[in-house]
Amino acid sequence: MSLVTNSIRSTLRGLPSLAAPLPAFDTSQAPANPAALFQSWLENAIDAGLREPHAMTLSTVDAHGRPDARTLILKDLTGAVWWFATHSLSPKGTQLTATPYAALTFYWPTLGRQIRVRGAVITASSADSARDFLERSESARTVAALGNQSKPLANAEERRTVLSRTEPPPECPEWTLYGVVGQEVEFWQGDPGRDHTRLRYTSTDDEWERTLLWP
Ligand SMILES: Cc1cc2nc3c(=O)[nH]c(=O)nc-3n(C[C@H](O)[C@H](O)[C@H](O)COP(=O)(O)O)c2cc1C
Repeated sequence: MSLVTNSIRSTLRGLPSLAAPLPAFDTSQAPANPAALFQSWLENAIDAGLREPHAMTLSTVDAHGRPDARTLILKDLTGAVWWFATHSLSPKGTQLTATPYAALTFYWPTLGRQIRVRGAVITASSADSARDFLERSESARTVAALGNQSKPLANAEERRTVLSRTEPPPECPEWTLYGVVGQEVEFWQGDPGRDHTRLRYTSTDDEWERTLLWP
């Protein structure tokens, strides 16, 4: 037991993190609105050839106030609202119905950048959610419409059988586009010398307040 633990520990200690070169972050040039900065950092991530820069961690809390987290795909950004889609009866959907607040975390390793978004969660119109559902591949629609995400599965055969017998439906009323209304949005630029730069935007009545944070 301890041998295995030591071996993993030394492996972990040998892994580099935030290795050079990483870009600089001149916060004096940061735009007034975090959505503009998010978009420019996303474009940098795409240009840098990062795989799936639109993958993010969605954190929610369960009925006991305990955190839960998983990876989702960012579907859109409108104003300062970050959109994702899922089944409303999945565990995360149920958690969001009970506690409509969430956090999103993006990490783009090649650039040493992390973005955190926190805020209240809203749902899109049923027409927008329906359109998102229709844009999914046939197999993704079939799986989603079954509505059994995260339920126990007896074996892989059961999944294959059910999927092969099910036609992709044109609609799924539970498929929902959710938006996190950015209340706090933090941009973190890692530095190989650990002199990291952090800028937090906080939404106030009529503008965004910008605050530098200690790393
Ligand atoms: C890269 C990646 C993208 C994913 N995108 C989605 C997504 O957009 N919507 C979704 O419901 N699940 C997505 N998943 C699956 C979720 O991480 C999760 O396993 C599933 O939604 C069940 O979560 P829950 O039990 O907390 O409801 C994705 C997983 C990965 C690794």
